[in-house]
Amino acid sequence: MNTRSHKLALLGALLLPLFVASCGGGGGAATEDDSPEAAAFRYRDGVMNGISFKMARIGGMAAGEIPANNEQFTKDARDLAAFAGMLPEGFIPNSIVKGSIALPEIWTNASDFQAKAKAFQDAAQGLADAAAQGGVEGAKGMVRAVRDTCGGCHRTYRHKDQ
Ligand code: HEC
Repeated sequence: MNTRSHKLALLGALLLPLFVASCGGGGGAATEDDSPEAAAFRYRDGVMNGISFKMARIGGMAAGEIPANNEQFTKDARDLAAFAGMLPEGFIPNSIVKGSIALPEIWTNASDFQAKAKAFQDAAQGLADAAAQGGVEGAKGMVRAVRDTCGGCHRTYRHKDQ
């Protein structure tokens, strides 16, 4: 084997496991449930993690733990409102799949669940509007009310052990 083909063979050996893993064709990823219900769960889990990311920065700026940046804060609050609008579609029927900590009341009290998602969206939008007007300083007093809408929904619709 000359040096060149040896290098290529080595490269192939290094890359092969990556391709197998990323295609999900027989590696660990093959265990992923590809039903619409599991996909909906992964979607809402992703949205919820996006919400957490945004909320952490908003909270950090409001508390003075992160330097205030009015533009970033306003964008984060707007993004939060957009995420709120994206939440309900992730809760399709019968989607308490493996890994989910959602409670069945989401579907038996659907209108209340929707109202709580809307309350979150309105609070986040209100925060964004206040920030656009008065920056972090003018809006930070509203952050608690936004965070309360998280707990307001989790208390009723999510298992407590998390
Ligand atoms: C309208 C209801 C509702 C609102 C409002 C809401 N959540 Fe959730 N959240 C849920 C439900 C239900 C779950 C569980 C979903 C599941 O496991 O299937 C959840 C799960 C989560 C998770 C867990 C995700 C994971 O990786 O397991 C995080 C983090 C989270 N929410 C953060 C937040 C934050 C922060 C807010 C507010 C800024 C918020 N949520 C607002 C209903 C809500």
